[in-house]
Amino acid sequence: MNQSIRTPRDTPDPAHLRRTLGCFATGVAVITTVDGAGTPCGVTVNSFNSVSLDPPLILWSLARSSRSLPVFHVAKGFTVNILASDQAALCKLFASREEDRFSSIDWHKDGLGQPVLTGALATLSCHKWAVHDGGDHEIFIGQVIEAEHHDRTPLGYCKGALGPLMIG
Ligand SMILES: Cc1cc2nc3c(=O)[nH]c(=O)nc-3n(C[C@H](O)[C@H](O)[C@H](O)COP(=O)(O)O)c2cc1C
Repeated sequence: MNQSIRTPRDTPDPAHLRRTLGCFATGVAVITTVDGAGTPCGVTVNSFNSVSLDPPLILWSLARSSRSLPVFHVAKGFTVNILASDQAALCKLFASREEDRFSSIDWHKDGLGQPVLTGALATLSCHKWAVHDGGDHEIFIGQVIEAEHHDRTPLGYCKGALGPLMIG
């Protein structure tokens, strides 16, 4: 059934808009960095995307309500950890209210000193290039310094559900 809902101001109903946007299938990434004291910080996102090859730029967005926002504001860079299909638990951990998200998992630091989650499908270690206004989110653009990928199946996200992305 086609669904189209409009509010009196002719803007889409937020819940309807969220469900409509959820039709766009994505992968899942955990964006990591460290704060000024070297404490690791990370958050689950599906807003990651590529921007430019020359220079090599990527983007992702973070809600202004995110508790991690002040850390990403100050950080000089961040690492994109693209999750593999067997990492749904990491997706949920880094989207949860848990404050200590790193003590129960395996991770190490990349060449920029930013956390890499063991078993990730791919990692992109970035310097922060720019931060732009994105309404109730902020859009972070990163310059890719190091990139690595492995022969694993991606974790997918669509219509609120997680599952392996099997294509081809
Ligand atoms: C699959 C998935 C994708 C998400 N994508 C984003 C995103 O792109 N941007 C965002 O701000 N939050 C996103 N979230 C929600 C955050 O992960 C969640 O709000 C998290 O608790 C934020 O942590 P913090 O408040 O400690 O920073 C996503 C959650 C899930 C499960």
